[in-house]
Amino acid sequence: TAGDLVITEKFDALALMTINRPKALNALDQLTLQQLDAAVSAIEADPQIKVAIITGSGEKAFVAGGDIGVMQPLDPLGARRIAVDVQQLLNKIEYGSTVYIAAINGYALGGGCELALACDIRIAADSAQLGQPEVNLGIIPGWGGTQRLPRLVGSSMAKQLMFTGERISAARAAQIGLVSEVVPATGLLARARELAQIIAAKPKMALQLIKEAVNNGREMDMQRAFAYEADLFGLCFATADQKEGMLAFLEKRQPQWRDQ
Ligand code: HXC
Repeated sequence: TAGDLVITEKFDALALMTINRPKALNALDQLTLQQLDAAVSAIEADPQIKVAIITGSGEKAFVAGGDIGVMQPLDPLGARRIAVDVQQLLNKIEYGSTVYIAAINGYALGGGCELALACDIRIAADSAQLGQPEVNLGIIPGWGGTQRLPRLVGSSMAKQLMFTGERISAARAAQIGLVSEVVPATGLLARARELAQIIAAKPKMALQLIKEAVNNGREMDMQRAFAYEADLFGLCFATADQKEGMLAFLEKRQPQWRDQ
């Protein structure tokens, strides 16, 4: 499905996607974006996959951003096009039925930070640095950063990061809720896989409905959001795994999930 700029490995219910353009610190040029799009589509089309990890190849970078060489000569319509196209790709991740974990192994800057923001969970190596340095290039984040970052860390912190363009450490990112865990760099992938295995062992419909409740509910007022939650809660009772999960508890045994 994908070529060599985005490598997808599959381990049963788990996929590991590696962005592999280390000579440019995994900056996303058109070909890399195309391959990332194809890789995400393939994951979403594979009913066996429940969790996908996204990481960068090499020790230095997760993704150092959109490719600045590609963007420099763009005209306004071309720039708008690339913003809209990549926003759609990142929405495929955010609103997809797979759980995405960003394993941030190094620089996650600009579009790289925005890619991580579209994932459900972010964990980082202690050596990683994150930031939205677009202001230093005379632009603003265009792959969802001005919207997802304030929703995650609050407007004040998000504006500070975007106005200053400063890079922050993984430890600081954890303090502000931008990443949920920091682990020694050598153990990052092992921890990401451990987390992925724990999640992949859960029933798929419940995972999917949790993701939908959080992501869609965030866009509603509280009363509608509660009603929506109740509807999705009801929907759980149409699944075989709800009957099995509760029966297994009552029979004091482990559940046998069927992912339906
Ligand atoms: C293109 C990039 C790149 C990028 C790094 N490289 N980041 N190429 N686009 N975003 C390339 C460098 O040009 C260099 O290529 C090689 O990767 C290694 O980078 P160095 O700068 O030599 O490494 P180092 O000195 O260690 O510095 C690392 C760095 C720095 C701090 C991460 O590379 C940097 O500041 N990169 C830009 C980060 C950035 O501004 N990202 C946001 C982009 S805007 P050569 O050929 O010289 O070896 C964005 C907007 C997206 O993402 C939304 C658009 C709608």
